[in-house]
Amino acid sequence: MPTPQEILEELKKVKYPGFSRDIVSFGLIRDIQVGYSGVTVYVRNPSSNEEVVATIAREIERSVGAMAGVEQVRVEILGPDPNEQARRAIQSQRRKPENVRHVVAVASGKGGVGKSTVAVNLALAFAALGWRTGLMDADVYGPSLALMVGGKQPVTLTAQKRIVPLERYGIRYVSMALFIDDERPVIWRGPMVAKLENEFLFNVEWGELDCLVLDLPPGTGDAQLTITQRVALDGGIIVTTPQELALLDVRRGVTMFKQVGVPVLGVVENMSYYTCRNCGSRHQIFGQGGGARMAREMNLTLLGELPIVSELREGADRARPLVAVNPTHPASIVFRQIAAKIRAQLDPTLFARVETGSSAD
Ligand SMILES: Nc1ncnc2c1ncn2[C@@H]1O[C@H](COP(=O)(O)OP(=O)(O)OP(=O)(O)O)[C@@H](O)[C@H]1O
Ligand SMILES: [Mg+2]
Repeated sequence: MPTPQEILEELKKVKYPGFSRDIVSFGLIRDIQVGYSGVTVYVRNPSSNEEVVATIAREIERSVGAMAGVEQVRVEILGPDPNEQARRAIQSQRRKPENVRHVVAVASGKGGVGKSTVAVNLALAFAALGWRTGLMDADVYGPSLALMVGGKQPVTLTAQKRIVPLERYGIRYVSMALFIDDERPVIWRGPMVAKLENEFLFNVEWGELDCLVLDLPPGTGDAQLTITQRVALDGGIIVTTPQELALLDVRRGVTMFKQVGVPVLGVVENMSYYTCRNCGSRHQIFGQGGGARMAREMNLTLLGELPIVSELREGADRARPLVAVNPTHPASIVFRQIAAKIRAQLDPTLFARVETGSSAD
């Protein structure tokens, strides 16, 4: 009798009908059991097409049956995984704004960790990489992003009543702040918020974009989930500060993205250290290496560690974001490195999705 490993090797020669790839590399084989009564191969339900399923089962029986010592082969087709089904149902409802290639969301477990600062400067770093970049503030309750990029300006609509994004420093952006009266407190209810966000995302005339950066509201509650369930995100970026408490919040962020099947591209540790102006040495006032440790433990990529620099705050206050106005600043360099690390993850993701999308169903 062959061993399960030998059988698996043999199954690598069985091609998925109509594809050059084999059924093992497609992840269809879930288990192989070798017993006195023969071999049982457990197969993940590969397709809704019965003919494809029958062909695969027949091919497995034929190839394993031809191995020396095998007298009987049974193929068990397993039903779809309920979690997988739920994820697919969510994913099938998701869409991307028209002409937008990638959408990434910047999230944080709690407020004030520098999420908007990261979103703005990251968008500018993408633009520096040559990407046509958009930036959107999905934070109804604390909109600040537009002010960080270009101050408050009137918004215009196209003849089709679509929102024309503002443009500055080579990026296109819109923000809730542009539609809200400063004097009026924001006390909208959930459904109104969801509706507004929907308007925003899908009613903006973005034009062709390589990447749209979404600044999510702080936290991992309903508002964030609504967006992650509605927009076909290519990835999530989590911003944190080095305090232990913030690291706990990161876990919630990761769980949120995982729940909806969005890959986490990595973690940005903000306000990691402070470089003394006088002596030039680094001071890690919140403790050292927390982000790296957490990234390791949670199997996440540490995208970058950003220092505390007054220019980042001043730039945000005066709509002069650091990456745009001072591209050689050490923090700007970190932002461009983060952008490059994200870019390295984005294209394969999209490619993989296209490939699996055309194969299993
Ligand atoms: N690395 C940094 N160095 C210095 N100041 C920073 C840094 N990162 C953020 N800040 C400042 O900290 C404050 C909070 O940052 P920001 O508004 O980006 O956080 P946020 O997570 O978006 O907050 P909110 O939850 O309110 O949306 C701002 O004044 C910002 O300019
Ligand atoms: Mg913010």
